[in-house]
Amino acid sequence: MVSRSFTTKKLPLLFHTPKALFSTHIVGDKPILVRDFIHSALYDPKHGYFSQRSGSVGVLEKSIRFNQLEGRKAYMKYLDDIYKRSDIAWFTPVELFKPWYAHGIAEAIMRTANLSVPLKIYEIGGGSGTCAKGIMDYMMLNAPARVYNSMTYTSVEISPSLAEIQRETVGGVRSHLSKFRVECRDAADRTGWGAVEQQPCWVIMLEVLDNLPHDLIYSENQVSPWMEVWVEKQHDRETLSELYKPLQDSLIKHCVDIIDLDKNHSSQSSIISKTRSIWSMVFPTPRRCWLPTGCLKLLEVLHGVLPKMSLIASDFSYLPDVRIPGERAPLVSTKNGGSSLDYGSYLDAKGDADIFFPTDFWLLECIDHYCSGWLKSLKDKSSNQGKKRRTLMLDTSSFMEEFGLPSKTRTKDGYNPLLDDFKNTKFYISVPTHNIK
Ligand SMILES: C[S@@+](CC[C@H](N)C(=O)[O-])C[C@H]1O[C@@H](n2cnc3c(N)ncnc32)[C@H](O)[C@@H]1O
Repeated sequence: MVSRSFTTKKLPLLFHTPKALFSTHIVGDKPILVRDFIHSALYDPKHGYFSQRSGSVGVLEKSIRFNQLEGRKAYMKYLDDIYKRSDIAWFTPVELFKPWYAHGIAEAIMRTANLSVPLKIYEIGGGSGTCAKGIMDYMMLNAPARVYNSMTYTSVEISPSLAEIQRETVGGVRSHLSKFRVECRDAADRTGWGAVEQQPCWVIMLEVLDNLPHDLIYSENQVSPWMEVWVEKQHDRETLSELYKPLQDSLIKHCVDIIDLDKNHSSQSSIISKTRSIWSMVFPTPRRCWLPTGCLKLLEVLHGVLPKMSLIASDFSYLPDVRIPGERAPLVSTKNGGSSLDYGSYLDAKGDADIFFPTDFWLLECIDHYCSGWLKSLKDKSSNQGKKRRTLMLDTSSFMEEFGLPSKTRTKDGYNPLLDDFKNTKFYISVPTHNIK
């Protein structure tokens, strides 16, 4: 099943008053880039979707006992009841499958890390702190005592209300507190990180890439040059519209460069380009392409400040029923009268809607190699050094079969929602090779 309905996070927000016309407030007198619009809609300290304590990230009161449920029908009913009781519309996998999901990640770290040096873990966008607590619990119970005693876990969380919830969640186990720290800041802002950390460390990001700001580029037809999209207020001051400018933003240009690297335009014969050009005049088709510029910015910062990091990220590889046009387009989802409603335009997001994108894992890998310096040097022909990262993409089921305890999320009749339902999510693992300086 490729499902968004019971397999992903999403919003509750029944207690929060929708900020009418907030989306027009996001844009001042001057136009802004699409990524800045999305950033405000999600993270504005007052109105942003993730700033509402009432629950952009749901927390289950207790773990689900899968082995007491008969099968899929019973599981769905159980979830339905929780949703009705809690007013939370969506839970992320780390929450639904707690503590097993986090334990799988902890086991992957334990098997791969050099445990002779103190274990340093960073988590970006830790939500309610369930992953942090699960990993620390696992280390406490399964790692040699010196590993747990000397470990540090730093959470970098942009939302003040979620940062607070994380402190409460992890604080449930007193011995974790001296090892755990929450830094409430934007992880993509280099100034928050301080000096470069030369020690090996781990960075975890679960369902964070999908909520990072993206840019949008537009082209009138199949052969016209790409233009970057800006958002501006119309004369009535209440409606937003798009404005197209030639590519000038450096993040957008970098992203376009990275995507182009593999396309090898030079190999296209002049006959093919002429045919495309004629075709585009006869049947012009506008193109729209969403670019993960927020991911590019974050990985640039992380590679710069944590050059020996190992990265574990999980996210959606595909989203069903997307109505917004364009390659890698997002879902913009709000809740109306108890059920979820998807907007047809990202410009409708008013702080009451989640905006989330599918992750193009192939592109993520390219961005990772680019930010590590390897792809960049290949392109400039400045070096013929080997890859600086070894990377692996795994379906969630493969990851959990390898590192987790699948028997813990299996129902009586053998149905296992973690393995069977999360077909549209993947894990990305990236570790440094000996080619790093
Ligand atoms: C969809 S939630 C996922 C939460 C949690 N990882 C989970 O799986 O339950 C996305 C999280 O990323 C945080 N976040 C998004 N962008 C961030 C940034 N630039 N720096 C730090 N945290 C960020 C959000 O506030 C939120 O906690």
